[in-house]
Amino acid sequence: MNRIEIAPSILNADLLQLKGQLGRLEKAGLSILHLDVMDGHFVPPLTFGPPLVSCLSRATSVLLEAHLMVDRPESLIRDFAEAGCKRVIVHVEATRHPHRLLGAIRELGVQAGVALNPGTPLGAIDPCLHLADLILIMTVNPGWGGQSFIPESLDRVRQLKGRLDERGLTPHIEVDGGVNEETIGDLVDAGANLFVAGTAVFGGDNPARRFRSLTRTARDRAIQRGKGAGSGRKKTE
Ligand code: DX5
Ligand code: ZN
Repeated sequence: MNRIEIAPSILNADLLQLKGQLGRLEKAGLSILHLDVMDGHFVPPLTFGPPLVSCLSRATSVLLEAHLMVDRPESLIRDFAEAGCKRVIVHVEATRHPHRLLGAIRELGVQAGVALNPGTPLGAIDPCLHLADLILIMTVNPGWGGQSFIPESLDRVRQLKGRLDERGLTPHIEVDGGVNEETIGDLVDAGANLFVAGTAVFGGDNPARRFRSLTRTARDRAIQRGKGAGSGRKKTE
């Protein structure tokens, strides 16, 4: 059983406040920071690149994961790994060679993740499942924070969990988009263990308190379901 963790996304955070907020989040138990990289092509908005990741990696010791919403991710994986990301997530829709790309990420000495948009059949990653340390099921269409959770995503998470169990594979199952106090419980039940949260953490006062509360909600739900949250192996460290 993979440990349950919240991975705050800094997409809509106030970057000028981030250093202080990171310190408070770390005291609240933060172990993963989710970095949404957008190139204006794969998705319309533009965000940030490796220079910001380098600053963050000097400011914190938590695991930095880059979620690359970019075309031609092959050309960027090395830059993000060298900037300090310990996990690099690429979209299966963005590459013609997902199998080769996941192997190339691992060869850089970092964890490899593969993401699927809501409209992409799960079968698209079947041949690559054994090469992924993390599968990211998008629970909104990527590009913007603050969107509503797509309810059909629950069934996709359940189906993915079933396929992985059948094959005896245990990558992290991460969900991203519209994760909050209302939606997280059902996602735990469906089999996810990592939960990206942008608005739910940074969308108001006191991100650390919001982070702590969301973590507690998810772990309590897992305990209720007999999933043993907190007692599993820690793949995130
Ligand atoms: C969306 C990004 C998400 C986003 C989540 O394209 O990949 O990580 O920041 O934001 P919320 O939690 O507000 O839906
Ligand atoms: Zn993301």
